[in-house]
Amino acid sequence: MRVLIDTDPGIDDAIAILFALAHPELEVVGITTVAGNIGIGTTTRNALRILALAGKNVPVHAGAKGPLTREGVDETRIHGADGLGGVAFPEPRIEPSGTDAVAFLSETLMERPEGTIDILALGPLTNIAELVTRAPEAARRMRRLIAMGGAVHERGNVGPRSEFNIAHDPEAAEIVFAASLPFTLIPLDVTRKVRADHAYLARLADIGTPRAHAVRDLIAAYFDATTGGESRPLHDPCVPVLALRPELFRIESMKLSVNCSASELAGAIEPGKHMLDVAMGVEASEVLDLLSGAL
Ligand code: BDR
Ligand code: CA
Repeated sequence: MRVLIDTDPGIDDAIAILFALAHPELEVVGITTVAGNIGIGTTTRNALRILALAGKNVPVHAGAKGPLTREGVDETRIHGADGLGGVAFPEPRIEPSGTDAVAFLSETLMERPEGTIDILALGPLTNIAELVTRAPEAARRMRRLIAMGGAVHERGNVGPRSEFNIAHDPEAAEIVFAASLPFTLIPLDVTRKVRADHAYLARLADIGTPRAHAVRDLIAAYFDATTGGESRPLHDPCVPVLALRPELFRIESMKLSVNCSASELAGAIEPGKHMLDVAMGVEASEVLDLLSGAL
């Protein structure tokens, strides 16, 4: 299964990327970066540091420096000043590519056979909205878009009803929702059910690979930066897991739009115009087993 990963690493992005790079059924064709959890310079550098830890050479293409029209939401209190919770990652071994993210996404989709590339979106949807707008013919050639974002019945994590990836760039999300792509959204309703506790950290420590150790340290950093009892949600790793094992998720079709107002509801996803597939249930312990198994 060939995937392009669009990401803003980000603690849970890093976990998702390490999993995708480790899983034998996934080929990561390229990584595109977007500003989100932290600025574009740092998300791009972090993607390269994650690749160095994994010992993989995958091209990294920097994308949007910020949301399409607004300022965005600051997440550094969770992901730390370096975006990776202060966890020790090696220095990059390669440079980012000179081609920008959207040009790379579009070229790859045009070059590869139609319907063979999945896009896994782990951050704000700015690059994907640019792809849909600038290269609609290329966008139509993707097999699937799977994105982490939004909250359906759950409370939000940056506003009362809004989740970070959508709230950071609501206009981009609305463009992507409206694009009639083969699109599956994974909201907080599912990702908050996939939780790592201290026993899971011990399991990761026992695996003994550098990538499992890094994931253990990333989740430990997430414990330190947030409150939430005895466990923490693993948002972005749900995306590559759904790509591989959709049967672990209960998918519902819903008509949704994005709240693009200037109020505290900006970024909320609401009953609306665009038919989407939305993951609303998950076999959480099987997701956790798949993750640790690949690591
Ligand atoms: C999403 O927001 C980011 O902080 C995480 O990386 C994840 O993609 C969760 O709301
Ligand atoms: Ca993310």
